[in-house]
Amino acid sequence: MLDYTLKGIAQLVRFLWRPLALLILVMLLVGMTPLPTSVGWGLIWGMLMVVALAEFGVYRFGSAHQRSLLRKWSVYTATFWTIRNAVAKRKALRRGRELLVSSGLVRSEEKAEEYSAWLFENKRRNEYSFYVDDIPGIGPEDVRKACVNVVAPRLVGENARVTVEMTSGLICALISSTVAFPAVVPYPGNPRVSIDAIPIGIDEQGHVKTMALRENAILCAGSPGSGKSGFLNTVCEGAVRCGNVQLLGVDLKRVELSNWSPCFDRLAVTLDDALDLLESVHNLMEERYRQLEQEHLRKVERFDSHMPLVLLVIDEAAALLTGGDKKKNEHAKELLRSIISLGRAAGVTVVFASQRVSANIISSDIRDIAKTRVSYSVTNIESAKMVLGDGLKADEQGPWRIGNLPAERGVCYMQDEADRSLVCVKTFWLDDRRIQDTVRRYGKPSPAMREATREVLSDVAESA
Ligand SMILES: Nc1ncnc2c1ncn2[C@@H]1O[C@H](COP(=O)(O)OP(=O)(O)OP(=O)(O)O)[C@@H](O)[C@H]1O
Ligand SMILES: [Mg+2]
Repeated sequence: MLDYTLKGIAQLVRFLWRPLALLILVMLLVGMTPLPTSVGWGLIWGMLMVVALAEFGVYRFGSAHQRSLLRKWSVYTATFWTIRNAVAKRKALRRGRELLVSSGLVRSEEKAEEYSAWLFENKRRNEYSFYVDDIPGIGPEDVRKACVNVVAPRLVGENARVTVEMTSGLICALISSTVAFPAVVPYPGNPRVSIDAIPIGIDEQGHVKTMALRENAILCAGSPGSGKSGFLNTVCEGAVRCGNVQLLGVDLKRVELSNWSPCFDRLAVTLDDALDLLESVHNLMEERYRQLEQEHLRKVERFDSHMPLVLLVIDEAAALLTGGDKKKNEHAKELLRSIISLGRAAGVTVVFASQRVSANIISSDIRDIAKTRVSYSVTNIESAKMVLGDGLKADEQGPWRIGNLPAERGVCYMQDEADRSLVCVKTFWLDDRRIQDTVRRYGKPSPAMREATREVLSDVAESA
């Protein structure tokens, strides 16, 4: 205990000399000038304030590297962190000793006072680190058992994961929840959006994950109620905010995209209408290819209201591709495959969601050309492999491990656009009110946009 207090004092002195040195330096400087005392003190406080403000500015707006430099070299921040760490460590020691007793590792509170154990909490990640110092007769396996049986259920509930290792002579148990997200992550107030990056949700570190609409085809799959329609809402919100995206939709369930209907140029709710829409999009694509050929261009580079990016949103794609008239389903499959494979250069992006992705529902040739794949909760690893590819391993985390807790709704796995690694993302949630607000604010696409793509608009086509 004494050793611990002495270490704390030594650490404090190590950092406290900086503000003291600065104070003395300023006092000396002011003392050397023939200023009246009140002006002198004013100057001292002024300089100390300026340094404090500058440090606060770097801390608040600087990069991670600048902040780490600040913690090492600053006048105030280092002192603040030292004091904060000392207080946190004291609290951790108290909680750690309590756990030694309550988990049965040590028999009495008096006995626990003889040993050291710390419990640190990372609130943002819902994660705990339990460190146990050298206690005679207690090894890593005893700590693991105590954590699994008593500590983890109490701290993070049923969905706990415990890993135990030795670090610098201490037994360290890392207790985390398999659910790293809050129940609901609302869509940000005024996010930065563009067709190259629309916000989708947050990853386990709390960073916003984005997705490109340009030159993309997005497949989203998951069990009933896992969050697919929520994902499509997030995509629609981002697309509407871009200002150069024309929304077209297929919603054979009729209710999933209906909130967005004022923003959609065309929303098909029957199989026949959906087929007609797919044909129109196909024609539009061919027309754009003709234009590109004439202008000796390889793809549409700039999108604006005269040349919008066409986003075809299809909810419950299985209903479009199976279950109806066989001929119509086959025709829809053919059109969809053609639109996805040729659409990129022509500025046509398809995002489609389905509960099932087995080969007889969404054929592998359609699945394989979808560049971005998103999997919400699925029942087994085989289903996840159908969406995300064969590289998944049963003993790692993946969409087949997502459970039914409220915090797990809207959790998905998707490939990182930069390095293709798998990331776990909690999708932003948009309630009906928020969608209606957006619809009111952004409303119908501009007449220029409608004119530019009149081939796909049934009302214009009919009246012509
Ligand atoms: N990102 C999210 N955050 C919080 N809750 C969510 C989220 N996404 C979905 N949910 C919850 O899960 C419910 C079902 O979501 P959703 O309708 O998106 O599922 P689905 O996969 O489209 O289901 P189905 O296949 O039956 O259409 C929602 O009503 C909502 O309560
Ligand atoms: Mg749905």
